[in-house]
Amino acid sequence: MFLTFEGVDGSGKTTQANLLAKALRAEGREVVATREPGGTPLGEEVRQILLDGLEMSPWAEASLFAAARAELVERVIAPALEAGQDVVCDRYIDSSLAYQGIARELGVERVLELNLAATHALLPDRTFLVLVDPGVAFQRSSQSDRIEREGERFHRAVDEAYRSLAQMFPDRITPIDGNRTPDEIAEEIRGRLRELS
Ligand code: TYD
Repeated sequence: MFLTFEGVDGSGKTTQANLLAKALRAEGREVVATREPGGTPLGEEVRQILLDGLEMSPWAEASLFAAARAELVERVIAPALEAGQDVVCDRYIDSSLAYQGIARELGVERVLELNLAATHALLPDRTFLVLVDPGVAFQRSSQSDRIEREGERFHRAVDEAYRSLAQMFPDRITPIDGNRTPDEIAEEIRGRLRELS
């Protein structure tokens, strides 16, 4: 299975991605855990350009995220799935749809098209969207990179964007209430996954 985690900075999605990978491994499954942007040598270099580098135009930003994603699919995600392993990825296409497509106003359709081309149309079997109160998430977020430093208005736009994506893709995106303890959230995610398999 190909599973992804999404949410605004400070939502707790990374903690949940790690907990799920651990739980699946404890069941004896082989799990490849990875993250975006990054996850390959080229992807990590692109990550630096995106997060520590110069200002850039919105389409340059979307294209660089798509480039890192193309590399990750080709070298990590697709081979793992072909070998029968599970893949848990911290962020994927929906991050680009929310941040670049909606919050940066490039358009969901056009950003989706770019990303479907870059990934050979590989979509997750299930995407868990960790939703928390946007004010709380903003307080928690480290604001340590170029995109996180956009400020609270942008952060709220991304939160709204994710909520509309969940309505656009209800069969793939499962919203999860992230205003609880990490263990409670992890428990719900395990339950949701069991319902699917
Ligand atoms: P993030 O996973 O939050 O990195 P870290 O775990 O180090 O905090 O991702 C970094 C930033 O990149 C985050 O603000 C979201 C943004 N991003 C996009 O804007 N589009 C994308 O397609 C992806 C994958 C990330």
